Amino acid sequence: MMAKEKTLFSCTECGDTSPKWLGKCPGCGAWNTLIESTSVVGGQNRYSQRMSLAPASAVATLADIEAQDVARTPTGQEELDRVLGGGLVTGGVVLIGGDPGIGKSTLLLQAVDGLQRGGMATLYVTGEESGAQVALRSRRLGLDHSQVQVLAETQLEKILATIDKLAPAVVVIDSIQTVYSDALTSAPGSVAQVRECAAHLTRMAKSSGVATVLVGHVTKEGALAGPRVLEHMVDTVLYFEGDTHSSYRLVRAIKNRFGAVNEIGVFAMTERGLRGVSNPSAIFLSQHEQPVPGSCVLVTLEGTRPMLVEIQALVDSAGPSPRRLSVGLDRDRLAMLLAVLHRHAGVACMDQDVFVNAVGGVRIAEPAADLAVLMAIQSSLRGRPLPQGFLSFGEVGLAGEVRPAPRGQERLREAAKLGFSEALIPRANAPKKPIEGLRVHVIDRIDQALEVLRQWQ
Ligand code: TYD
Ligand code: MG
Repeated sequence: MMAKEKTLFSCTECGDTSPKWLGKCPGCGAWNTLIESTSVVGGQNRYSQRMSLAPASAVATLADIEAQDVARTPTGQEELDRVLGGGLVTGGVVLIGGDPGIGKSTLLLQAVDGLQRGGMATLYVTGEESGAQVALRSRRLGLDHSQVQVLAETQLEKILATIDKLAPAVVVIDSIQTVYSDALTSAPGSVAQVRECAAHLTRMAKSSGVATVLVGHVTKEGALAGPRVLEHMVDTVLYFEGDTHSSYRLVRAIKNRFGAVNEIGVFAMTERGLRGVSNPSAIFLSQHEQPVPGSCVLVTLEGTRPMLVEIQALVDSAGPSPRRLSVGLDRDRLAMLLAVLHRHAGVACMDQDVFVNAVGGVRIAEPAADLAVLMAIQSSLRGRPLPQGFLSFGEVGLAGEVRPAPRGQERLREAAKLGFSEALIPRANAPKKPIEGLRVHVIDRIDQALEVLRQWQ
């Protein structure tokens, strides 16, 4: 029977389909999530294709299934391996997103070159740059005589045919947004194209065991462009973040079927590509000769490593509608902290603009940053610096209580190692044995924190 193409509309959230476009998804009720996608009627349809993502096998109990550890190949970039959970997995699909110019292509080129030198066949598919541009970059990175195979191509069918022919162990697709399939009528780069092409490549990876890395663009809001299903489809999602004006870059795992999430890899962009930073604890501190008002050092725990990050606050008299702005920290959390400060410590910022910033372009999501944010705000409000060598961490609750942060001892030890001498922390994080060189002030409530500050201000 001849396969006949038919256009369907499917939801980017739940995957439900409809024969015509609807504003509201009939499956999950979400608005404006239906997008055009082609289905083939009479041949293999999209569902049977999707089902085949995992090879079919007989039903067995969990106890009977042999649990094999996945085979991993380290890329040789230690910081990248750390976020991947040890290395690339055979047949695993990694999606890596980040702003333009942050270093995605650079990192992946370095990684595949390392793998190729280690004896693995690699293929780098470039849709954004020509082969010559990639070669130029490889020279700049000092990757002389690189044997990485490069394909400048954007058509999915040709890419798949090349992978089939060369049978590499690792494929990089830079980027998934440039790949298009002739089987779809929609324009290259459209959501339908990105999704279908990613699904085809994922299927290829699973059936042939090729470790596949897809580079994805991010939107202005910072999410990976294209449908959320892209994140569901792949095994690992990594985000490249950092301030393009500074040389440090973070790679964060936000989903990993083969390792821990929230692990981060730290890199520095140099003249000759990205270099891993194996001891990143002090890179997000700015250098002040004298302590300045509105600055407080936070010890945050990123993945398995503590890092010291300077939190800056500026509190300034405002016009009729005061602003609360934050860079690298959650704005809603800032509004909540200001309310707690008012209600439970009697410090009002109602007629003030409040700006807070995490230095170096890091994004801090953990609530243990609360206490340091409030200390920076209080310091700016009073125009008095916190003492030299001061640090803080702890979560602040709506009742004004200060709750412990996970793995407090490790945070304190790292700070002491870097020469910090005064710590303001929740009582439950108090070290059992004194830490050399570190004076610890423990508190239960936010008003006690301000009480401790008064001795210096
Ligand atoms: P790139 O990897 O092209 O970013 P992406 O693929 O995420 O868009 O990185 C480009 C930036 O990195 C560019 O601004 C120049 C800088 N760079 C260096 O500083 N050193 C280097 O060795 C290389 C190759 C790039
Ligand atoms: Mg690029």
